[in-house]
Amino acid sequence: MKYPLGYNTWNKEEKNSAIKVLDSGFFTMGKKVKEFEEKFAKNFGSKYATMVNSGSSANLLMLSVLKNYKKIIKKETNKPNIIAPSVGWSTSYYPISQNNFKINFVDVSINTLNIDPNEVERAIDKDTVAILAINLLGNPCNFSKLKKIAKKNNLILIEDNCESLGAKYHNKFCGTHGLMGTHSLFFSHHMQTMEGGVILTDNKDINDFLKSLRAHGWCRDLPEKNNLYKKSNDKFKDHFVFITPGYSLRPLEIEASVGLVQLKKLNRFMKIREKNSKIFKNLFGNKSWCKIQEQEKKSLSSWYGFNLILTGQLKNKRKNIIKKLQKNKIEVRPTMTGNFLNNPVLKFLNFKASGSFKNSENIDKNGFFVGNYPKDLSKELNFLYKKLEEEIH
Ligand SMILES: Cc1ncc(COP(=O)(O)O)c(C=O)c1O
Repeated sequence: MKYPLGYNTWNKEEKNSAIKVLDSGFFTMGKKVKEFEEKFAKNFGSKYATMVNSGSSANLLMLSVLKNYKKIIKKETNKPNIIAPSVGWSTSYYPISQNNFKINFVDVSINTLNIDPNEVERAIDKDTVAILAINLLGNPCNFSKLKKIAKKNNLILIEDNCESLGAKYHNKFCGTHGLMGTHSLFFSHHMQTMEGGVILTDNKDINDFLKSLRAHGWCRDLPEKNNLYKKSNDKFKDHFVFITPGYSLRPLEIEASVGLVQLKKLNRFMKIREKNSKIFKNLFGNKSWCKIQEQEKKSLSSWYGFNLILTGQLKNKRKNIIKKLQKNKIEVRPTMTGNFLNNPVLKFLNFKASGSFKNSENIDKNGFFVGNYPKDLSKELNFLYKKLEEEIH
C-alpha cells in the first residue's frame, strides 16, 4: 500500500487541450487566459480575475497593489503593518515585507488552525493597515468576525486562499470575502494547471492595476475606459508606456487551456474530496490521541489535506510516528510552515511578534498532514488509522 501526498488529475482532455494550443502556434498569454479568467471569476462569484504564473506571484501582486495603489490605504502612517497568522505559507509572508509593510504576526486557533480573531484585535495598533487571512488546508477563516474587526478599525481585509479553492463561508466562496483573494493552481491543489495562480477582486480599478503589474507595468492590457491612465489614440506609443512598477508574471496559454478543462471537473473533484473527508472524520474525530481541524459554523471546507495534531498518549511523539508512517509508504508533511517564527528566513524580514504563540508551537511540534485528492482514499485512510492506533498502549 502506498499513500502519496498528491495525485495527477490530468487525463486525455487536458492533454488534448494542451496539444491544441501547441498546434495553434500561439503560446504566450492570449485568448485562452482571458477566457479562463472570465470563467474562473464567474464560477466563484467574483467580478474580475487575473491569472498569473503561480499562487506566490498572486500574493506578490496583491501586496504590490496595496503598496502602490494609493487610493486603497486611507490611514496616514510611515510604518504600516499587516496582521498575519503565524501558521501559513512562506510566500504568503515575503510579499508583505518586500512591499515595505511590517508583518504583524498573531497566533492561530488550535481548533481551526486559522488566524484567531481575538489575537487580531489584540495586535491592532495605530500603524495597522490590513489583515491577511489565510484559509489553511481548505478550511475557511471566521470571516464574520474578521470583517467586523476590519470595519471597526478601518483595515483592509485580504485573503490568501491558495490552499482552499472551492471552500465556502456562509455560502460565499473563500477568496471573495476580502478586497482581493489569491489562489494557487499548483499540482496537488484542487485544480491543477501544474503552475498557476489567480487573484480575484470585485474592484475594477484594482483589476486594471493588477493587469498592468502582471506584465512589465505597461498600459497595454488596460481597456480603453479605465481610471488609471488615459491612453492616447496612438497604439504605437501606447505599446511602451509604463504606468506601474510591475513584474513579468504572465501565465501560458497551455496553463489556461488546461485550467478551462479542470474548471469543468471541479464540482466532481470536490464531491470526492468531501467523501474522503467523511471517512477521515469518522476515523479520527473524537479520539483522545489526536485532534483534527474543526470548521467554523456555516462553513464548508474544501479539504486540501487531512491534518492531525498528536495529543494525549501520542503528544510529543511525532518524530517516531513520522518515521513509521514513512516506512509504511505514507507520505506526510508538517502542518505547512508550523510556527513560521521558528524559520531562519526571519532575519531577512521586517516583522513583529507580540503575545503568545502557544498554539502555533503545538502545531509546530505535533502537527502533520496527509494528502486528499479526487480518488477514493478509504483504504489509505484506514491503513493510516491502523498504523497510528498500533502506537496506543
Ligand atoms: C497558503 C499558500 N499561499 C501561497 C502558496 C503558493 O502557491 P504556489 O505554489 O502556486 O506558488 C501556497 C502553496 O501551496 C500556499 O499553501
